[in-house]
Amino acid sequence: MLANKTVILGITGSLAAYKAADIASKLTQAGARVEVIMTESATRFIAPLTLRNITGRPVVTDMFELASEFSIEHVALAEAADVVAIAPATASLIARLAAGISDDMLTVTVLATKAPVILAPAMNVNMFENSITQDNLAKLKARGFTIIDPAYGRLASGKIGLGRLADVDKIIGTIKQVLGRGGDLAGKRMVVTAGGTQEPIDPVRHIGNRSSGKMGYAIAEAARDRGATVTLVTAPTSLPEPVGMEVVHIETAAQMKEAVAEATSQADALIMAAAVADYQPKSAAKAKIKKETPSLTLELIRTPDILTEVKGDFLKVGFAAESEDIVANARQKLEKKQLDIIVANDITDADSGFGVDTNKVTLIDRDGKVENLPLLTKREVADRILDRVVELLAKKARR
Ligand code: C5P
Repeated sequence: MLANKTVILGITGSLAAYKAADIASKLTQAGARVEVIMTESATRFIAPLTLRNITGRPVVTDMFELASEFSIEHVALAEAADVVAIAPATASLIARLAAGISDDMLTVTVLATKAPVILAPAMNVNMFENSITQDNLAKLKARGFTIIDPAYGRLASGKIGLGRLADVDKIIGTIKQVLGRGGDLAGKRMVVTAGGTQEPIDPVRHIGNRSSGKMGYAIAEAARDRGATVTLVTAPTSLPEPVGMEVVHIETAAQMKEAVAEATSQADALIMAAAVADYQPKSAAKAKIKKETPSLTLELIRTPDILTEVKGDFLKVGFAAESEDIVANARQKLEKKQLDIIVANDITDADSGFGVDTNKVTLIDRDGKVENLPLLTKREVADRILDRVVELLAKKARR
């Protein structure tokens, strides 16, 4: 997604400027061409040489040096940009942009570019909360700038408050989301479920399964990066909260059913990657069950089958974890649950399925098309599933 994209990374003079090195590194590793522009004061916080080594590209610190040393026109970067991200963005930079001032390479580039601009402010809490800064941010937002709100925490002054540069992963996620706006899922609403549901036995114990949530999160992120509006309905996982989508946290199958019903009321597609528990305790004990008796019998009842029961005019994609007769069993499931696509995975393969980062799946659709995919990363599998979703949505629109 970031491969071959030109990202202009603007850095301004804030203590958080050192985090820009991490942003530049992650973008570069993801295949982006990162062109760094630093303001004069940014160079006091972090050396241009650091950014130059990370990105493997010249770092612009001076508009006039650019023209003479690199023989580049002053608006060349503005024209080459797919996206401009300024992180950290100081109060002063925000004020200058809001006033339309263009007196250095960074402000010139922002004014001259047609690419989307993202700002990640970082400053003292009082400066951030000052109505002047808030007005400036509101003005820029109204003009189409994307603002990544700062985080709450310890600031350079030692005070605790709002003003820390947002998490680097949040900044990268926002860049991907903004780049994906024109993607092949633009304007589509997708609901994705992930993780293993937890069915309470008592206030401290539950019945669960080994789903890591990785496949569902990869699908949700891939859909976001292709321009979709995504709702992720997730059971508890240890994965970081994805950005650029609505995330609904649930625990039980019954809660997931309710969240899915609500989220799909306007959806174009539902992808159920969650491992929904098949059984739940008939009733959860109100107090912690004591281990006084030598044995304990739990009565279990079936959970609702979300995919079968959810109604609406959207594509339905289900998963089938199989250990034998994979295609035949998955096909049966596709029929029974009235799905458009079923993603069958072979759980006997150690590199495939639960917990790992790779997956080996077969995609089967309602028309009988069977596509055996090789072992791929979950993100690659996600994109292959979405290729089919795009195809089927286009087909549906023609009908
Ligand atoms: O029937 P089975 O559990 O093998 O079906 C798997 C598919 O059905 C998955 O997509 C899973 O998310 C979904 N499912 C569901 N509700 C359940 C159990 C599974 O929607 N109670």
